Amino acid sequence: MNNVCVIGGSRYFGRRLIESLRDSGARVTVINRGSVPPPPGITHLTADRDDEKALGAAVGNREFDAVIDQVCYTPYQAAIARRVFGRRTSRYVMTSTMEVYDPATSELIPPAVPEVPVTEEAVDPASWPVPPGQPWHDPGRMEGVFGEATRYAEGKRQAEAVFTRESPFAFVTVRSAHVLGIGARDFTGRLEHYVERILAGRPVDVHRDRFPTSFINDEEIAGLLFWAAGAEFTGAVNASSHGELSVTGLCDLIAAETGRKADYRLVDGGEASPFSFDRHYAMGNGRAARLGYAFSTTTDWLPKAIAMAIDLRKGT
Ligand SMILES: NC(=O)c1ccc[n+]([C@@H]2O[C@H](COP(=O)([O-])OP(=O)(O)OC[C@H]3O[C@@H](n4cnc5c(N)ncnc54)[C@H](OP(=O)(O)O)[C@@H]3O)[C@@H](O)[C@H]2O)c1
Repeated sequence: MNNVCVIGGSRYFGRRLIESLRDSGARVTVINRGSVPPPPGITHLTADRDDEKALGAAVGNREFDAVIDQVCYTPYQAAIARRVFGRRTSRYVMTSTMEVYDPATSELIPPAVPEVPVTEEAVDPASWPVPPGQPWHDPGRMEGVFGEATRYAEGKRQAEAVFTRESPFAFVTVRSAHVLGIGARDFTGRLEHYVERILAGRPVDVHRDRFPTSFINDEEIAGLLFWAAGAEFTGAVNASSHGELSVTGLCDLIAAETGRKADYRLVDGGEASPFSFDRHYAMGNGRAARLGYAFSTTTDWLPKAIAMAIDLRKGT
């Protein structure tokens, strides 16, 4: 893989991904709207990927061995990308999410059996419906159609479906677990939420019946995307470190790292903290492992991610 294009690539594991591609000797082109300059040695094209004309003009006659799409959230964006990159690449990797399996976001998701990790077959992009007429091109109007969580999950599912059907290139969708930072701080602030509460002795909001979930670290997901771009398989692949963890398991690790005790408040019906789930959809990583990707184990790297979050909280 000598010539790779990444859409996104300006922060967090996207930044790590483009740096590791560059360091491997590949020619790397990054496309985003230009909010931050790319690292040295990387070709930077600026365009809004929602603007088909601008995207096509920015890409010009370039061709790529693979495109990695870090910021595809809707079937509208997928349709544009399929048209723009159809003749320009033979392989396309989309960064998707484990939220596609969240049963709370669609009645079409088969009920998962607790303690049985969810596999890729649970959501099949080849048959997932893409209803005509949903205003995905207009984010404001979509707010009236689906709530935030469903919009995210359903936008990803439908984007995967658009890329999978009549695909002009070999297509892979990487369904990532929750990403926590060991090489860069997680900008979403989810881990900090727990660290802040435990350090301050404030209770953490959790469901009465809670289920474990899946995690991966920023270096590992960047490595997996790199690997997927250069491999030959197609279809969906789950990306998570070995070992699921519940919100209280996570808090126990933070408590151990901070020397404090974690207190909990049950939210019965209310909103819980970010990694508390009252439904099961933790993923199995068996397909990627069988294809040759070596995963780490969550509890091996999580103390480092927690230590970073503690430093952030303490302002160091
Ligand atoms: N964090 C998690 O826990 C998690 C879990 C599962 C999946 N994911 C997935 O991870 C992906 C994000 O990864 P990342 O945060 O590392 O991102 P990234 O590769 O750095 O991409 C984010 C950048 O893309 C650019 N961008 C956004 N919209 C654009 C547009 N319309 N046109 C052109 N460029 C645009 C923005 O830079 P400019 O402002 O410069 O355009 C933005 O900073 C998403 O697909 C998300 O669903 C994340």
